[in-house]
Amino acid sequence: MRLLSLLCACLEKRFRGRRRRAADEEAEDAAVESWDLFFELRTLQVATNFFSELNQLGHGGFGPVYKGLMPNGQEIAVKKLSLESRQGLREFTNEVKLLLKIQHKNLVTLLGCCAEGPEKMLVYEYLPNKSLDYFLFSKNSNPDKKYATLDWTTRYRIITGVARGLLYLHEEAPERIIHRDIKASNILLDEHLNPKISDFGLARLFPGEDTHVNTFRISGTHGYMAPEYAMHGYLSVKTDVFSYGVLVLEIVSGRKNHDGQLGAEKADLLGYTWKLYQGGKPLELVDPNLAKYNSDEAAMCTQLGLLCCQQSVPDRPDMNSVHLMLSSDSFTLPRPGKPGIQGRGGRWTTTSTALTNTNATNASSSHTGVTKVSGSSSFVEDFSRNSISVSSIDEGR
Ligand SMILES: Nc1ncnc2c1ncn2[C@@H]1O[C@H](COP(=O)(O)OP(=O)(O)OP(=O)(O)O)[C@@H](O)[C@H]1O
Ligand SMILES: [Mg+2]
Repeated sequence: MRLLSLLCACLEKRFRGRRRRAADEEAEDAAVESWDLFFELRTLQVATNFFSELNQLGHGGFGPVYKGLMPNGQEIAVKKLSLESRQGLREFTNEVKLLLKIQHKNLVTLLGCCAEGPEKMLVYEYLPNKSLDYFLFSKNSNPDKKYATLDWTTRYRIITGVARGLLYLHEEAPERIIHRDIKASNILLDEHLNPKISDFGLARLFPGEDTHVNTFRISGTHGYMAPEYAMHGYLSVKTDVFSYGVLVLEIVSGRKNHDGQLGAEKADLLGYTWKLYQGGKPLELVDPNLAKYNSDEAAMCTQLGLLCCQQSVPDRPDMNSVHLMLSSDSFTLPRPGKPGIQGRGGRWTTTSTALTNTNATNASSSHTGVTKVSGSSSFVEDFSRNSISVSSIDEGR
């Protein structure tokens, strides 16, 4: 009996030792991860000249963005998240950890975050050419001519690069990300004018308040939103496809999706493009500032833009098909029908739960179900990917 209790005590001690070692290792891992993840507030203050106005790169729906210079000479962009979020530090940290794993040459690299001050912040690589909107829309109004007209080859590279980045977010990333806010100012350009999608996954940092309607004011921008998303809050990868279609037409034409100064006939980019396409004159859409361009590519991009902006969700291609259309010479594009009307709401309507999972799929996409937006962004995204991950995400929240 004594021998038995001695044996038990001995085993218990060994297990306890092993448990302690495992816990120590876990704590060590967490420390290393946190070390990599977090920037000290003080470091960011010094890097950005105490968030001086001179360092401000812009101001978007989440708050201001500042340029910073780290002691090792690295340039960074610091995004202050001024919007109220109910998310706790642990959830925020988990989401940032996940976003750090979302890496692709056509996505802006997230470097880490800071959660010390009153506002949480995200730290990104700095891109010297700012965003596509400066090149497309302010070319006639910038005195230093920094944002010269982009030539056709560059525009086509941007169109394919954004498609590649979106395909990665939708199909290849460790977790599916529906961007929700694809637009010219969210396409940043590196020193060689290669495109990088910014602000992906940001909605994950603001899990909404399920009981409130119209309180969550991040996702979607006037003129880029798919009609079913703007009007009913139905979210799917095809929501991004619609916005991508609008963006493609903006790149081809060098104008904004809505421009009242162009007169009633041309003001609405989608309506005008459709009219030109029906009249057999798609090339009239091409930016008049372009001295030369590849007419086959330009006509194809016009048709592709219209296809992506179809009213009916299943009629839009998924990003796999878009990528194929752009990279294959032999692909014959289907004829588009009349495009949908862009969402004019500009606000995300939060509703109580994720509801429908319609069969809005096409041959090459097995999981493009449309889901009604819930306040919990991760839930929606995972629901639209598969149902297994729903439970695990729910557990974590
Ligand atoms: N990593 C970065 N490097 C360089 N410039 C950046 C970077 N991130 C953002 N910017 C600049 O800061 C501006 C503001 O960005 P921000 O994302 O806050 O606003 P937005 O894209 O106009 O709107 P939204 O909040 O809807 O995304 C952008 O237009 C871009 O020019
Ligand atoms: Mg942005």
